[in-house]
Amino acid sequence: MFWMPIIGAALLWIIWKALADEDPLDKLPGPKKWPVLGNVFILSVTSHEQYFILVREFVKQYGDRFVFKVFNTRVLNICGAKDTEVILSHSRNITKSSHYTFVEPMLGTGLLLSTGNKWHRRRKLLTPTFHFNILKNFAVVMEERSRSFVRQLRETKGSEVEVASLIKDFTLYTICETAMGISLDLDKSKPALDYLDAVINIGPLILERSVSFWLHSDLIYYRLPAGKRQKKYLKTIHSFADNLIHGRKQQRLRDMEEFETIEEAGVKRRLAFLDLLLEVESKGEIDVEGIREEVNTFMFEGHDTTANALTFGIMLLAAHPEVQDKIREEYRKIIGEADRAFTMTDFTEMKYLEAVIKETLRLYPSVPFIGRTVTEDFMLDDVLVRAGTQVAVRIYDLQRREDLFPEPHKFKPERFLGADHRPYAFVPFSAGPRNCIGQRFAMMEMKCVLSMICSEFRLEPRIKSHRPALAADLVLRAVEPIYVRFLPR
Ligand code: HEM
Repeated sequence: MFWMPIIGAALLWIIWKALADEDPLDKLPGPKKWPVLGNVFILSVTSHEQYFILVREFVKQYGDRFVFKVFNTRVLNICGAKDTEVILSHSRNITKSSHYTFVEPMLGTGLLLSTGNKWHRRRKLLTPTFHFNILKNFAVVMEERSRSFVRQLRETKGSEVEVASLIKDFTLYTICETAMGISLDLDKSKPALDYLDAVINIGPLILERSVSFWLHSDLIYYRLPAGKRQKKYLKTIHSFADNLIHGRKQQRLRDMEEFETIEEAGVKRRLAFLDLLLEVESKGEIDVEGIREEVNTFMFEGHDTTANALTFGIMLLAAHPEVQDKIREEYRKIIGEADRAFTMTDFTEMKYLEAVIKETLRLYPSVPFIGRTVTEDFMLDDVLVRAGTQVAVRIYDLQRREDLFPEPHKFKPERFLGADHRPYAFVPFSAGPRNCIGQRFAMMEMKCVLSMICSEFRLEPRIKSHRPALAADLVLRAVEPIYVRFLPR
Protein backbone atom coordinates (compact mmCIF):
# COMPACT_ATOMS: atom_id res chain seq x y z
CA MET A 1 0.00 0.00 0.00
CA PHE A 2 3.01 2.29 -0.43
CA TRP A 3 1.17 4.13 -3.23
CA MET A 4 -1.73 5.27 -1.00
CA PRO A 5 0.18 8.30 0.36
CA ILE A 6 1.22 9.20 -3.21
CA ILE A 7 -2.38 9.15 -4.45
CA GLY A 8 -3.49 11.05 -1.35
CA ALA A 9 -0.83 13.72 -1.92
CA ALA A 10 -1.75 14.00 -5.61
CA LEU A 11 -5.44 14.47 -4.71
CA LEU A 12 -4.60 17.09 -2.10
CA TRP A 13 -2.43 18.89 -4.62
CA ILE A 14 -5.26 18.91 -7.22
CA ILE A 15 -7.75 20.21 -4.64
CA TRP A 16 -5.32 22.85 -3.36
CA LYS A 17 -4.58 23.99 -6.95
CA ALA A 18 -8.30 24.18 -7.71
CA LEU A 19 -9.07 26.19 -4.57
CA ALA A 20 -6.07 28.51 -4.82
CA ASP A 21 -6.58 29.10 -8.52
CA GLU A 22 -7.79 32.65 -9.14
CA ASP A 23 -8.31 34.30 -12.47
CA PRO A 24 -9.66 37.69 -13.65
CA LEU A 25 -12.26 35.75 -15.67
CA ASP A 26 -13.87 34.64 -12.41
CA LYS A 27 -15.50 38.08 -12.22
CA LEU A 28 -17.55 37.26 -15.30
CA PRO A 29 -20.94 35.61 -14.92
CA GLY A 30 -21.60 31.95 -15.59
CA PRO A 31 -23.16 28.85 -14.09
CA LYS A 32 -22.17 28.00 -10.50
CA LYS A 33 -18.85 26.18 -10.44
CA TRP A 34 -18.05 23.28 -8.11
CA PRO A 35 -14.63 22.99 -6.50
CA VAL A 36 -12.27 20.88 -8.63
CA LEU A 37 -14.98 19.78 -11.08
CA GLY A 38 -16.13 23.21 -12.20
CA ASN A 39 -19.12 22.63 -14.50
CA VAL A 40 -18.15 19.19 -15.72
CA PHE A 41 -21.26 17.64 -14.29
CA ILE A 42 -23.85 19.82 -16.00
CA LEU A 43 -21.89 19.86 -19.26
CA SER A 44 -21.45 16.13 -19.51
CA VAL A 45 -24.77 14.75 -18.34
CA THR A 46 -26.70 16.64 -20.97
CA SER A 47 -27.36 15.06 -24.37
CA HIS A 48 -26.15 16.62 -27.56
CA GLU A 49 -29.48 18.31 -28.16
CA GLN A 50 -29.88 19.46 -24.55
CA TYR A 51 -26.35 20.87 -24.61
CA PHE A 52 -27.29 23.09 -27.55
CA ILE A 53 -30.32 24.38 -25.63
CA LEU A 54 -28.27 24.81 -22.45
CA VAL A 55 -25.73 27.09 -24.12
CA ARG A 56 -28.57 29.23 -25.58
CA GLU A 57 -29.96 29.51 -22.04
CA PHE A 58 -26.56 30.58 -20.71
CA VAL A 59 -26.48 33.32 -23.38
CA LYS A 60 -29.94 34.50 -22.36
CA GLN A 61 -29.11 34.40 -18.67
CA TYR A 62 -25.53 35.73 -18.60
CA GLY A 63 -25.27 37.86 -21.75
CA ASP A 64 -22.39 38.56 -24.11
CA ARG A 65 -19.63 37.07 -22.00
CA PHE A 66 -19.81 34.13 -19.65
CA VAL A 67 -17.43 31.56 -18.30
CA PHE A 68 -17.73 27.92 -17.44
CA LYS A 69 -15.06 25.61 -16.14
CA VAL A 70 -14.10 22.11 -17.17
CA PHE A 71 -12.04 20.92 -14.20
CA ASN A 72 -9.37 23.61 -14.04
CA THR A 73 -9.78 25.04 -17.53
CA ARG A 74 -11.86 28.16 -18.02
CA VAL A 75 -13.94 28.41 -21.17
CA LEU A 76 -14.72 32.02 -22.04
CA ASN A 77 -17.84 32.23 -24.20
CA ILE A 78 -18.50 35.40 -26.17
CA CYS A 79 -21.19 36.54 -28.58
CA GLY A 80 -20.65 40.30 -29.04
CA ALA A 81 -19.30 41.72 -32.32
CA LYS A 82 -16.60 43.80 -30.61
CA ASP A 83 -15.24 40.85 -28.60
CA THR A 84 -15.43 38.65 -31.70
CA GLU A 85 -13.27 41.16 -33.53
CA VAL A 86 -10.64 41.18 -30.77
CA ILE A 87 -10.41 37.40 -30.78
CA LEU A 88 -10.64 36.57 -34.47
CA SER A 89 -8.31 39.35 -35.60
CA HIS A 90 -5.56 38.48 -33.10
CA SER A 91 -2.47 37.63 -35.14
CA ARG A 92 -0.81 35.33 -32.59
CA ASN A 93 -3.65 33.65 -30.74
CA ILE A 94 -4.42 31.37 -33.64
CA THR A 95 -4.29 27.97 -31.93
CA LYS A 96 -7.46 25.91 -32.18
CA SER A 97 -9.26 24.81 -29.03
CA SER A 98 -9.13 21.32 -27.64
CA HIS A 99 -12.51 20.29 -29.09
CA TYR A 100 -10.63 19.60 -32.35
CA THR A 101 -8.21 17.17 -30.65
CA PHE A 102 -10.10 14.11 -31.74
CA VAL A 103 -10.11 15.10 -35.40
CA GLU A 104 -6.33 15.10 -35.45
CA PRO A 105 -5.84 11.33 -35.97
CA MET A 106 -7.74 11.79 -39.23
CA LEU A 107 -6.42 15.12 -40.48
CA GLY A 108 -3.01 15.33 -38.88
CA THR A 109 -1.88 18.90 -38.46
CA GLY A 110 -3.10 20.12 -41.82
CA LEU A 111 -4.27 23.67 -42.41
CA LEU A 112 -7.29 23.40 -40.14
CA LEU A 113 -5.47 22.13 -37.07
CA SER A 114 -1.89 23.36 -37.36
CA THR A 115 -0.63 26.46 -35.60
CA GLY A 116 2.42 28.75 -35.43
CA ASN A 117 5.01 28.54 -38.20
CA LYS A 118 3.61 25.40 -39.73
CA TRP A 119 0.21 27.01 -40.19
CA HIS A 120 1.77 30.22 -41.62
CA ARG A 121 3.82 28.27 -44.16
CA ARG A 122 0.93 26.07 -45.20
CA ARG A 123 -1.52 28.97 -45.51
CA LYS A 124 0.92 30.81 -47.79
CA LEU A 125 1.44 27.68 -49.83
CA LEU A 126 -2.24 26.80 -50.19
CA THR A 127 -3.79 30.25 -50.76
CA PRO A 128 -2.87 30.24 -54.49
CA THR A 129 -4.75 26.94 -54.94
CA PHE A 130 -7.98 28.92 -54.57
CA HIS A 131 -6.96 31.35 -57.27
CA PHE A 132 -9.64 32.50 -59.73
CA ASN A 133 -8.31 30.40 -62.64
CA ILE A 134 -8.26 27.27 -60.54
CA LEU A 135 -11.74 27.89 -59.20
CA LYS A 136 -12.81 28.21 -62.84
CA ASN A 137 -11.75 24.59 -63.41
CA PHE A 138 -13.50 23.50 -60.23
CA ALA A 139 -16.68 25.24 -61.43
CA VAL A 140 -16.89 22.77 -64.33
CA VAL A 141 -16.98 19.88 -61.85
CA MET A 142 -19.57 21.67 -59.69
CA GLU A 143 -21.79 22.19 -62.71
CA GLU A 144 -21.59 18.55 -63.79
CA ARG A 145 -22.30 17.35 -60.27
CA SER A 146 -25.22 19.80 -59.92
CA ARG A 147 -26.77 18.61 -63.20
CA SER A 148 -26.45 15.03 -62.05
CA PHE A 149 -28.04 15.97 -58.71
CA VAL A 150 -30.97 17.65 -60.47
CA ARG A 151 -31.45 14.49 -62.57
CA GLN A 152 -31.55 12.49 -59.35
CA LEU A 153 -34.21 14.87 -57.95
CA ARG A 154 -36.29 14.51 -61.13
CA GLU A 155 -36.41 10.79 -60.52
CA THR A 156 -38.10 11.37 -57.16
CA LYS A 157 -41.17 12.52 -59.15
CA GLY A 158 -42.36 14.93 -56.51
CA SER A 159 -42.32 12.47 -53.62
CA GLU A 160 -40.83 13.43 -50.25
CA VAL A 161 -37.06 13.43 -50.08
CA GLU A 162 -34.90 13.32 -46.95
CA VAL A 163 -32.62 16.19 -47.89
CA ALA A 164 -29.52 15.83 -45.70
CA SER A 165 -28.22 12.45 -46.92
CA LEU A 166 -28.88 13.23 -50.57
CA ILE A 167 -27.06 16.56 -50.32
CA LYS A 168 -24.17 15.00 -48.45
CA ASP A 169 -23.50 12.65 -51.37
CA PHE A 170 -23.56 15.63 -53.71
CA THR A 171 -20.99 17.64 -51.74
CA LEU A 172 -18.86 14.56 -51.07
CA TYR A 173 -18.69 13.66 -54.77
CA THR A 174 -17.92 17.29 -55.65
CA ILE A 175 -15.06 17.61 -53.17
CA CYS A 176 -13.67 14.18 -54.13
CA GLU A 177 -13.44 15.20 -57.74
CA THR A 178 -12.04 18.68 -57.12
CA ALA A 179 -9.66 17.73 -54.32
CA MET A 180 -8.51 14.29 -55.45
CA GLY A 181 -9.55 14.06 -59.08
CA ILE A 182 -11.69 10.94 -58.72
CA SER A 183 -15.36 10.45 -59.56
CA LEU A 184 -16.66 8.38 -56.69
CA ASP A 185 -20.05 7.96 -58.35
CA LEU A 186 -18.37 6.29 -61.34
CA ASP A 187 -15.56 4.54 -59.50
CA LYS A 188 -17.25 1.54 -57.92
CA SER A 189 -14.00 -0.26 -57.06
CA LYS A 190 -13.80 -1.76 -53.58
CA PRO A 191 -11.16 0.72 -52.28
CA ALA A 192 -13.28 3.67 -53.48
CA LEU A 193 -16.47 2.30 -51.91
CA ASP A 194 -14.64 1.49 -48.67
CA TYR A 195 -13.22 5.00 -48.65
CA LEU A 196 -16.64 6.57 -49.10
CA ASP A 197 -18.05 4.38 -46.36
CA ALA A 198 -15.18 5.31 -44.01
CA VAL A 199 -15.50 9.08 -44.63
CA ILE A 200 -19.25 8.95 -44.01
CA ASN A 201 -18.98 6.81 -40.87
CA ILE A 202 -15.94 8.23 -39.13
CA GLY A 203 -17.50 11.69 -38.63
CA PRO A 204 -20.16 10.63 -36.10
CA LEU A 205 -17.57 8.55 -34.18
CA ILE A 206 -15.19 11.52 -33.84
CA LEU A 207 -18.00 13.79 -32.79
CA GLU A 208 -19.37 11.37 -30.24
CA ARG A 209 -15.92 11.08 -28.72
CA SER A 210 -15.30 14.82 -28.60
CA VAL A 211 -18.43 15.43 -26.52
CA SER A 212 -18.01 12.41 -24.18
CA PHE A 213 -15.17 13.09 -21.75
CA TRP A 214 -15.07 9.44 -20.60
CA LEU A 215 -14.01 8.52 -24.16
CA HIS A 216 -11.13 11.01 -24.25
CA SER A 217 -8.36 8.69 -23.06
CA ASP A 218 -6.74 6.79 -25.97
CA LEU A 219 -6.05 3.94 -23.58
CA ILE A 220 -9.76 3.41 -23.00
CA TYR A 221 -11.16 4.51 -26.35
CA TYR A 222 -9.16 2.24 -28.62
CA ARG A 223 -10.16 -0.78 -26.55
CA LEU A 224 -13.87 -0.09 -27.08
CA PRO A 225 -15.81 -1.22 -30.19
CA ALA A 226 -16.17 2.43 -31.32
CA GLY A 227 -12.42 3.03 -31.04
CA LYS A 228 -11.67 -0.16 -32.96
CA ARG A 229 -14.06 0.88 -35.72
CA GLN A 230 -12.46 4.31 -35.87
CA LYS A 231 -9.01 2.74 -36.22
CA LYS A 232 -10.27 0.62 -39.11
CA TYR A 233 -11.79 3.65 -40.88
CA LEU A 234 -8.60 5.66 -40.36
CA LYS A 235 -6.56 2.90 -41.96
CA THR A 236 -8.90 2.85 -44.97
CA ILE A 237 -8.86 6.64 -45.36
CA HIS A 238 -5.10 6.97 -45.04
CA SER A 239 -4.21 4.10 -47.33
CA PHE A 240 -6.69 5.29 -49.96
CA ALA A 241 -5.16 8.78 -49.87
CA ASP A 242 -1.61 7.35 -50.00
CA ASN A 243 -2.38 5.14 -53.01
CA LEU A 244 -4.06 8.01 -54.76
CA ILE A 245 -1.15 10.35 -54.13
CA HIS A 246 1.22 7.71 -55.46
CA GLY A 247 -0.91 7.17 -58.59
CA ARG A 248 -1.24 10.89 -59.34
CA LYS A 249 2.48 11.30 -58.83
CA GLN A 250 3.15 8.72 -61.54
CA GLN A 251 0.61 10.45 -63.79
CA ARG A 252 2.34 13.74 -63.17
CA LEU A 253 5.70 12.32 -64.22
CA ARG A 254 4.12 11.08 -67.47
CA ASP A 255 2.54 14.52 -67.98
CA MET A 256 5.83 16.25 -67.44
CA GLU A 257 7.35 14.21 -70.25
CA GLU A 258 4.53 15.27 -72.53
CA PHE A 259 3.90 18.87 -71.43
CA GLU A 260 6.12 21.82 -70.54
CA THR A 261 4.09 23.13 -67.61
CA ILE A 262 1.31 22.06 -65.27
CA GLU A 263 -0.97 24.68 -66.89
CA GLU A 264 -0.44 23.01 -70.26
CA ALA A 265 -1.27 19.60 -68.75
CA GLY A 266 -4.35 21.21 -67.20
CA VAL A 267 -5.70 22.10 -70.63
CA LYS A 268 -5.66 18.41 -71.60
CA ARG A 269 -6.51 16.87 -68.27
CA ARG A 270 -8.68 18.17 -65.48
CA LEU A 271 -6.42 19.11 -62.58
CA ALA A 272 -7.37 18.51 -58.98
CA PHE A 273 -6.23 20.21 -55.80
CA LEU A 274 -3.95 17.19 -55.33
CA ASP A 275 -2.10 17.95 -58.59
CA LEU A 276 -1.43 21.47 -57.38
CA LEU A 277 0.01 20.05 -54.17
CA LEU A 278 2.22 17.67 -56.15
CA GLU A 279 3.50 20.67 -58.08
CA VAL A 280 4.41 22.31 -54.75
CA GLU A 281 6.04 19.05 -53.64
CA SER A 282 8.24 19.01 -56.73
CA LYS A 283 9.67 22.34 -55.53
CA GLY A 284 10.42 20.78 -52.15
CA GLU A 285 7.91 22.96 -50.27
CA ILE A 286 5.74 20.14 -48.89
CA ASP A 287 6.28 16.39 -48.43
CA VAL A 288 3.97 13.43 -49.07
CA GLU A 289 2.85 13.36 -45.43
CA GLY A 290 1.90 17.05 -45.77
CA ILE A 291 -0.03 16.36 -48.97
CA ARG A 292 -1.97 13.61 -47.25
CA GLU A 293 -2.80 15.95 -44.34
CA GLU A 294 -4.10 18.62 -46.68
CA VAL A 295 -6.08 16.27 -48.92
CA ASN A 296 -7.79 14.80 -45.84
CA THR A 297 -8.37 18.29 -44.40
CA PHE A 298 -10.02 19.55 -47.57
CA MET A 299 -12.11 16.42 -47.88
CA PHE A 300 -13.31 16.83 -44.29
CA GLU A 301 -13.85 20.61 -44.21
CA GLY A 302 -15.09 20.75 -47.78
CA HIS A 303 -18.16 18.55 -47.65
CA ASP A 304 -19.95 18.49 -44.29
CA THR A 305 -20.02 22.28 -43.86
CA THR A 306 -21.43 22.89 -47.33
CA ALA A 307 -23.87 19.97 -47.05
CA ASN A 308 -25.39 21.37 -43.87
CA ALA A 309 -25.66 24.89 -45.29
CA LEU A 310 -27.42 23.49 -48.36
CA THR A 311 -29.76 21.34 -46.28
CA PHE A 312 -30.87 24.32 -44.19
CA GLY A 313 -31.02 26.47 -47.33
CA ILE A 314 -33.36 24.01 -49.07
CA MET A 315 -35.48 23.78 -45.91
CA LEU A 316 -35.87 27.59 -45.79
CA LEU A 317 -36.56 27.83 -49.51
CA ALA A 318 -39.29 25.22 -49.26
CA ALA A 319 -40.97 27.40 -46.64
CA HIS A 320 -40.63 30.55 -48.78
CA PRO A 321 -41.98 30.07 -52.32
CA GLU A 322 -41.60 33.79 -53.06
CA VAL A 323 -37.84 33.49 -52.49
CA GLN A 324 -37.66 30.49 -54.85
CA ASP A 325 -39.40 32.56 -57.54
CA LYS A 326 -36.93 35.40 -57.18
CA ILE A 327 -33.97 33.03 -57.49
CA ARG A 328 -35.51 31.47 -60.61
CA GLU A 329 -36.15 34.94 -62.08
CA GLU A 330 -32.54 35.99 -61.43
CA TYR A 331 -31.25 32.73 -62.91
CA ARG A 332 -33.26 33.14 -66.09
CA LYS A 333 -32.15 36.76 -66.46
CA ILE A 334 -28.49 35.71 -66.22
CA ILE A 335 -28.52 32.39 -68.09
CA GLY A 336 -31.36 33.02 -70.54
CA GLU A 337 -34.27 30.71 -71.33
CA ALA A 338 -32.19 27.85 -72.79
CA ASP A 339 -29.71 26.35 -70.35
CA ARG A 340 -26.02 26.83 -71.05
CA ALA A 341 -22.74 26.31 -69.20
CA PHE A 342 -22.05 28.68 -66.30
CA THR A 343 -19.34 31.31 -66.52
CA MET A 344 -17.56 32.82 -63.53
CA THR A 345 -19.37 36.13 -64.24
CA ASP A 346 -22.71 34.34 -63.87
CA PHE A 347 -21.82 33.45 -60.29
CA THR A 348 -20.82 37.05 -59.51
CA GLU A 349 -24.11 38.30 -60.90
CA MET A 350 -26.26 36.04 -58.70
CA LYS A 351 -26.66 38.76 -56.08
CA TYR A 352 -30.06 37.77 -54.80
CA LEU A 353 -29.07 34.12 -54.43
CA GLU A 354 -25.94 35.26 -52.61
CA ALA A 355 -28.14 37.16 -50.14
CA VAL A 356 -30.27 34.01 -49.66
CA ILE A 357 -27.19 31.90 -48.92
CA LYS A 358 -25.84 34.52 -46.50
CA GLU A 359 -29.17 34.72 -44.69
CA THR A 360 -29.17 30.90 -44.44
CA LEU A 361 -25.66 30.97 -42.97
CA ARG A 362 -26.68 33.73 -40.58
CA LEU A 363 -29.52 31.66 -39.17
CA TYR A 364 -27.78 28.31 -39.48
CA PRO A 365 -24.01 28.81 -39.47
CA SER A 366 -22.47 25.44 -40.43
CA VAL A 367 -19.72 26.10 -37.88
CA PRO A 368 -21.80 27.36 -34.94
CA PHE A 369 -18.85 28.29 -32.78
CA ILE A 370 -15.15 28.89 -33.24
CA GLY A 371 -12.76 27.69 -30.57
CA ARG A 372 -9.33 28.96 -29.63
CA THR A 373 -6.76 28.01 -27.01
CA VAL A 374 -5.17 31.21 -25.76
CA THR A 375 -1.39 30.92 -26.04
CA GLU A 376 -0.55 34.53 -25.20
CA ASP A 377 -2.26 36.72 -22.54
CA PHE A 378 -4.44 39.44 -24.07
CA MET A 379 -6.92 42.11 -22.96
CA LEU A 380 -10.55 41.75 -23.89
CA ASP A 381 -11.36 45.40 -23.27
CA ASP A 382 -10.91 45.60 -19.53
CA VAL A 383 -10.55 41.88 -18.80
CA LEU A 384 -7.27 40.02 -18.84
CA VAL A 385 -7.55 36.68 -20.63
CA ARG A 386 -4.69 34.42 -19.63
CA ALA A 387 -2.81 31.86 -21.67
CA GLY A 388 -4.40 28.44 -21.21
CA THR A 389 -7.96 29.75 -21.39
CA GLN A 390 -10.24 28.26 -24.03
CA VAL A 391 -12.38 30.74 -25.95
CA ALA A 392 -15.61 29.91 -27.76
CA VAL A 393 -16.94 32.53 -30.19
CA ARG A 394 -20.63 31.71 -30.32
CA ILE A 395 -21.37 32.58 -33.96
CA TYR A 396 -24.87 31.14 -33.77
CA ASP A 397 -25.83 33.59 -30.99
CA LEU A 398 -23.88 36.53 -32.41
CA GLN A 399 -25.72 36.28 -35.71
CA ARG A 400 -29.12 36.13 -34.01
CA ARG A 401 -28.66 39.29 -31.93
CA GLU A 402 -31.61 41.63 -32.18
CA ASP A 403 -29.43 44.76 -32.03
CA LEU A 404 -27.42 43.58 -35.05
CA PHE A 405 -30.17 41.89 -37.06
CA PRO A 406 -33.70 43.18 -36.31
CA GLU A 407 -36.30 40.39 -36.20
CA PRO A 408 -33.34 38.04 -35.88
CA HIS A 409 -35.19 34.73 -36.20
CA LYS A 410 -36.93 35.69 -39.44
CA PHE A 411 -35.60 34.55 -42.81
CA LYS A 412 -35.14 37.84 -44.69
CA PRO A 413 -32.54 37.62 -47.49
CA GLU A 414 -33.13 41.32 -48.26
CA ARG A 415 -31.10 42.29 -45.21
CA PHE A 416 -27.99 41.33 -47.21
CA LEU A 417 -28.92 43.47 -50.21
CA GLY A 418 -28.82 46.85 -48.49
CA ALA A 419 -26.19 48.58 -46.39
CA ASP A 420 -23.35 46.53 -44.95
CA HIS A 421 -23.78 45.12 -41.45
CA ARG A 422 -21.41 45.92 -38.62
CA PRO A 423 -17.95 44.32 -39.11
CA TYR A 424 -17.61 41.00 -37.27
CA ALA A 425 -21.40 40.72 -36.82
CA PHE A 426 -21.68 38.16 -39.62
CA VAL A 427 -18.81 35.64 -39.60
CA PRO A 428 -20.02 32.24 -40.87
CA PHE A 429 -16.65 31.73 -42.57
CA SER A 430 -14.83 33.17 -39.56
CA ALA A 431 -12.66 36.26 -40.13
CA GLY A 432 -9.11 37.40 -39.56
CA PRO A 433 -6.02 35.32 -40.29
CA ARG A 434 -7.74 31.94 -39.82
CA ASN A 435 -10.79 32.57 -41.92
CA CYS A 436 -12.14 29.87 -44.22
CA ILE A 437 -9.85 29.35 -47.18
CA GLY A 438 -12.63 27.53 -49.05
CA GLN A 439 -15.20 30.33 -48.76
CA ARG A 440 -15.30 31.23 -52.47
CA PHE A 441 -15.32 27.56 -53.43
CA ALA A 442 -18.28 26.92 -51.10
CA MET A 443 -20.27 29.97 -52.31
CA MET A 444 -19.79 28.91 -55.92
CA GLU A 445 -20.85 25.34 -55.26
CA MET A 446 -23.96 26.47 -53.36
CA LYS A 447 -24.93 29.02 -56.03
CA CYS A 448 -24.47 26.44 -58.75
CA VAL A 449 -26.72 23.78 -57.28
CA LEU A 450 -29.36 26.04 -55.67
CA SER A 451 -29.89 28.10 -58.82
CA MET A 452 -30.40 24.94 -60.87
CA ILE A 453 -32.77 23.46 -58.29
CA CYS A 454 -34.94 26.59 -58.16
CA SER A 455 -35.02 26.89 -61.94
CA GLU A 456 -36.25 23.29 -62.32
CA PHE A 457 -38.44 22.67 -59.29
CA ARG A 458 -40.96 24.14 -56.91
CA LEU A 459 -39.98 23.12 -53.40
CA GLU A 460 -42.58 22.22 -50.79
CA PRO A 461 -41.99 21.36 -47.12
CA ARG A 462 -43.53 18.40 -45.28
CA ILE A 463 -44.77 20.69 -42.51
CA LYS A 464 -45.19 24.38 -43.19
CA SER A 465 -43.07 26.77 -41.06
CA HIS A 466 -41.55 23.92 -39.05
CA ARG A 467 -38.10 24.71 -37.69
CA PRO A 468 -36.24 21.58 -36.54
CA ALA A 469 -34.46 21.18 -33.19
CA LEU A 470 -30.71 21.67 -33.54
CA ALA A 471 -27.53 20.19 -32.16
CA ALA A 472 -23.95 21.23 -32.60
CA ASP A 473 -20.92 19.00 -32.75
CA LEU A 474 -18.24 20.42 -34.99
CA VAL A 475 -21.00 21.33 -37.41
CA LEU A 476 -24.56 22.55 -36.78
CA ARG A 477 -27.14 19.89 -37.60
CA ALA A 478 -30.87 19.38 -37.48
CA VAL A 479 -31.58 16.55 -35.06
CA GLU A 480 -34.58 15.39 -37.05
CA PRO A 481 -34.75 14.59 -40.77
CA ILE A 482 -35.83 17.38 -43.11
CA TYR A 483 -38.27 16.32 -45.83
CA VAL A 484 -38.94 18.36 -48.95
CA ARG A 485 -40.83 17.67 -52.19
CA PHE A 486 -39.22 18.75 -55.46
CA LEU A 487 -42.06 19.32 -57.93
CA PRO A 488 -41.08 19.89 -61.56
CA ARG A 489 -42.08 23.41 -62.72
C1 HEM B 1 -20.69 26.66 -46.14
C2 HEM B 1 -19.48 26.16 -46.20
C3 HEM B 1 -18.38 26.47 -45.23
C4 HEM B 1 -18.42 27.13 -44.04
C5 HEM B 1 -19.61 27.76 -43.35
C6 HEM B 1 -17.06 27.15 -43.54
C7 HEM B 1 -16.68 27.75 -42.36
C8 HEM B 1 -15.40 27.76 -41.87
C9 HEM B 1 -15.00 28.34 -40.61
C10 HEM B 1 -15.95 29.05 -39.64
C11 HEM B 1 -13.68 28.15 -40.47
C12 HEM B 1 -12.83 28.54 -39.26
C13 HEM B 1 -12.89 27.39 -38.29
C14 HEM B 1 -12.18 27.65 -37.04
O1 HEM B 1 -11.47 28.64 -36.86
O2 HEM B 1 -12.32 26.79 -36.14
C15 HEM B 1 -13.21 27.43 -41.64
C16 HEM B 1 -11.90 27.06 -41.86
C17 HEM B 1 -11.49 26.30 -42.93
N1 HEM B 1 -12.26 25.90 -44.00
FE1 HEM B 1 -14.21 26.29 -44.28
N2 HEM B 1 -16.26 26.48 -44.42
C18 HEM B 1 -17.00 26.07 -45.48
C19 HEM B 1 -16.57 25.39 -46.60
C20 HEM B 1 -15.27 25.01 -46.84
C21 HEM B 1 -14.81 24.35 -48.04
C22 HEM B 1 -15.69 24.01 -49.22
C23 HEM B 1 -13.46 24.11 -47.86
C24 HEM B 1 -12.49 23.46 -48.79
C25 HEM B 1 -12.68 23.31 -50.08
C26 HEM B 1 -13.09 24.64 -46.56
C27 HEM B 1 -11.83 24.57 -46.03
C28 HEM B 1 -11.48 25.15 -44.83
C29 HEM B 1 -10.13 25.07 -44.29
C30 HEM B 1 -8.96 24.32 -44.90
C31 HEM B 1 -10.13 25.81 -43.10
C32 HEM B 1 -8.95 26.09 -42.18
C33 HEM B 1 -8.34 27.41 -42.60
C34 HEM B 1 -7.17 27.86 -41.73
O3 HEM B 1 -7.19 27.61 -40.52
O4 HEM B 1 -6.27 28.50 -42.28
N3 HEM B 1 -14.21 25.19 -45.98
N4 HEM B 1 -14.28 27.20 -42.47
